[in-house]
Amino acid sequence: MFKIGVLISGGGTNLQSIIDNVNSGYLDCKIEIVISDSENAYGIERARKSGIDAVALPKKQYGDALSDEILKIVSERKVDLIVTAGFLSILKGELLKKYKNKIINIHPSLIPSFCGKGMYGLNVHKAAINYGVKTSGCTVHFVDEGTDTGPIIIQKAVPVFSDDTAEILQKRVLDKEHEALPEAIKLIAEDKLEVHDRRVLIK
Ligand code: GRF
Repeated sequence: MFKIGVLISGGGTNLQSIIDNVNSGYLDCKIEIVISDSENAYGIERARKSGIDAVALPKKQYGDALSDEILKIVSERKVDLIVTAGFLSILKGELLKKYKNKIINIHPSLIPSFCGKGMYGLNVHKAAINYGVKTSGCTVHFVDEGTDTGPIIIQKAVPVFSDDTAEILQKRVLDKEHEALPEAIKLIAEDKLEVHDRRVLIK
């Protein structure tokens, strides 16, 4: 059984979409573990309600050791794919080496727009609206040493309307995130991707 580990920091609506897609049979995977860098994340509650093991590694307690602690847990549990879903800490070190092209992230913009340091949550949508873009969306990409810089797997676009607030745009994008992330997980679980430098090809 293809095992995934999901990393969260907050509400976990993307985690919930993965849970729902496992339960529906769309994803032939097991969510082996949920790891949060915040003990108050509601996503922990979502996991526990679904009978999924969850552990909090508060970033203020683990600091620079967070990535190594995550590596220890996912290795012990033989996780095949790590999914960062609303996860705010930056992964680094041995974890990125051992899990090269086995960590994916969901970002709420069409990368390379509105991404990188400080671009998370509502900041992303405020920047998109202030820039005046007519289209935004979400991106699922592999995680590498940078911030939101890994090869792109899936993107889904949404229109941006002149009367949109950041909150309205966030909701429109979030709905697409909940489609894109399970689709990307399915492609990987079924070994349907080839990565050639920056380009990800679907077999
Ligand atoms: C989402 O916009 C996601 O794209 C970003 O974090 C936000 C919250 O995600 N990475 P979730 O509801 O905690 O899954």
